[in-house]
Amino acid sequence: MNAIELNNLSKKFGNFYAVKDVDLTIKEGEIFGLLGPNGAGKSTIMKMISTLLKPTLGTIKINGNFINKNLYKVKKSISLVSDYNVLEDDLTPTENLKMFAEISNIKNYKDTLDDLMKDFGLNIYKNKLTKHLSSGNKQKLNIARALIKKPSILLLDEPTNAIDVETSRFIREYIIENNKKYNTTIIISSHYIWEVEQICNSIGVIVDGKIAFKDNTENIYDKFQKLMSIYEILIPKDKFEDIVKYLEGFKDEILSFKTISTKKIIVELKNNDFVFPDYVEKRKITPNLEDVYSYIVKKDKKL
Ligand SMILES: Nc1ncnc2c1ncn2[C@@H]1O[C@H](COP(=O)(O)OP(=O)(O)O)[C@@H](O)[C@H]1O
Ligand SMILES: [Mg+2]
Repeated sequence: MNAIELNNLSKKFGNFYAVKDVDLTIKEGEIFGLLGPNGAGKSTIMKMISTLLKPTLGTIKINGNFINKNLYKVKKSISLVSDYNVLEDDLTPTENLKMFAEISNIKNYKDTLDDLMKDFGLNIYKNKLTKHLSSGNKQKLNIARALIKKPSILLLDEPTNAIDVETSRFIREYIIENNKKYNTTIIISSHYIWEVEQICNSIGVIVDGKIAFKDNTENIYDKFQKLMSIYEILIPKDKFEDIVKYLEGFKDEILSFKTISTKKIIVELKNNDFVFPDYVEKRKITPNLEDVYSYIVKKDKKL
């Protein structure tokens, strides 16, 4: 079943389209990664899906229901973890969770609340005011708050942005575990491409409010392996300066080159016809998601 269906979705602020004609289908249980430069429209899409913002045009279906016609039902099944603070600073973590459970009209939340406090390691701060928690613990509380209603769809807008390494890792592991255990459908936006690569099974890249590319992770590498020409070249001793000079002479044929060491350079070419000097050994390599991402964003290609 499709958990989320966006059809022709657009959002205008004044005369400016923050989101334009987005069609996107996300299956139940999928972990979908939303990538894109700042201002691309990621947060706006998430806010529309979570009913916080009304689309200018187009439709959103959640678990088969149009959101404008089934607002209450949809609201019950979706949680958004956003970048703005929704916690009450002068309440304790438990009080915050209780408040959100009450507001969302959730019955019998006590056991879930206890489990979340325990799972997120928040019990030791039980009597502290939220304003005295570290930003990592505040983010854990934010996510616990989103999970207290046991949503079937969880939207995470840059959940590990500016969060310490350990907490970020915990959050990623918890997300994956939650998905496995409850088959939760998850959309996660992130600036960390490797993070998306690690946890998502499909990915969409949004540029200037439009979906420039989307596919599942298995297909992406095959597709871009064919489309892109990235080579690793191995350089014999004392030839490093020669090869750098050589490559610099072909600016039009070379999209980028990255020196790994004096023995190895990664070169991205416009096509496969480029001739390297005889003394180097070349090997075509599979692009990683970061290569794919910058290829799409730089060229703004519709694939
Ligand atoms: N409430 C708003 N009023 C006017 N412009 C907005 C508003 N919210 C977002 N925008 C603009 O819409 C574009 C998309 O924003 P956003 O969805 O936050 O991007 P992202 O999350 O990908 O960084 C940006 O140019 C942003 O400035
Ligand atoms: Mg954003």
